Amino acid sequence: MEKLNLKSNIVLGIETSCDETAIALYSSSDGLLSHCLYSQIESHKKYGGVMPEVASRDHIKRVVPLIKQAVEEANLSLDDIGVIAYTSGPGLVGALMVGASIARSLAYALDIPAIPINHMEGHLLAPMLDKPAPEFPFVSLLISGGHTQLIEVKKIGSYNIIGESVDDAVGEAFDKTARLLGLSYPGGPELSKLAESGELGKYVFPRPMTRLPGLNFSFSGLKTHAMTAWKKCPQSEQDKADISLAFEIAVAKTLAIKCKRALDQTGLKTIVVAGGVSANVRIRQELRKLANDLKVNIFFPRHEFCTDNGAMIAYAGSHNIDNIQNDLLIRTQAKWRLS
Ligand code: KG4
Ligand code: ZN
Repeated sequence: MEKLNLKSNIVLGIETSCDETAIALYSSSDGLLSHCLYSQIESHKKYGGVMPEVASRDHIKRVVPLIKQAVEEANLSLDDIGVIAYTSGPGLVGALMVGASIARSLAYALDIPAIPINHMEGHLLAPMLDKPAPEFPFVSLLISGGHTQLIEVKKIGSYNIIGESVDDAVGEAFDKTARLLGLSYPGGPELSKLAESGELGKYVFPRPMTRLPGLNFSFSGLKTHAMTAWKKCPQSEQDKADISLAFEIAVAKTLAIKCKRALDQTGLKTIVVAGGVSANVRIRQELRKLANDLKVNIFFPRHEFCTDNGAMIAYAGSHNIDNIQNDLLIRTQAKWRLS
């Protein structure tokens, strides 16, 4: 990093791709210096999902005070920052534009470089914020609200997508299933909590696409199974919990089957799981068991860095110094494939 004559090795990370405004400061020599986050969950609850216009308006209110807070918490001033990394995509375009505009403008004003970061690369690298960090090469399982991908990672920047969902992302399937059971947004954690009181074996849902060869996933059918079971039962709280448990087990088992296949196919000995759904306890347990059986290494981000956060963007920035913007454009890409 120093080779490029940057003012310092401190990266300011700005994340506004969806419903979290998140800021962090990361130093390539001293690690994470501060991170703070404002979650918009309460603003979106009444809509049952993220309302894009509300998200953009909320980001614009929060982003500058949060930058100030992160800088103060690190006992620094804006002049100490060497680079600004911002989530440029994928995500909600209006929400992305807030972070991108602030990042590009602040970098211009401070006369320091700006780096557009792929949000999914941020997730993928989040487990590296802690020690021991996974070593390359590894298989990454990215499970978030918008993505379900298996990626062969040779090094930072070398991402080969070897499997992905052909329909709903796993987080999306959690959220939609939770919604049809009448749970509030975001449904994933709510459904998971309810599953704890479910009766094992009351319902058994299939493990989609595991009988077909290959590494792709399909989760939209599971949501339909849950809906059919829900319509046919007396719809008590216990039924809700039983269906939640069956859904969660089906997802966890399916992910484990595909991860085993990905490890067999690539011959790799490390699996790194990331994205919002990697916070799920049952999925963690199932994948840890798999890793134990196969005698491979497994890594997850710390809980607070599973869902969207600024630390992963600042960290990705510190490893993407070669991708510094050489123009003054405010870059956003609603769709941006990580490969
Ligand atoms: O990574 P993330 O914060 O945002 C995206 O990039 O999409 O992931 C959000 C997703 C949501 O679908 C949410 O329901 C899910 O992660 N999620 C969970 C859990 N915590 C968050 N799903 C299942 N169990 C959880 N504990
Ligand atoms: Zn995310």
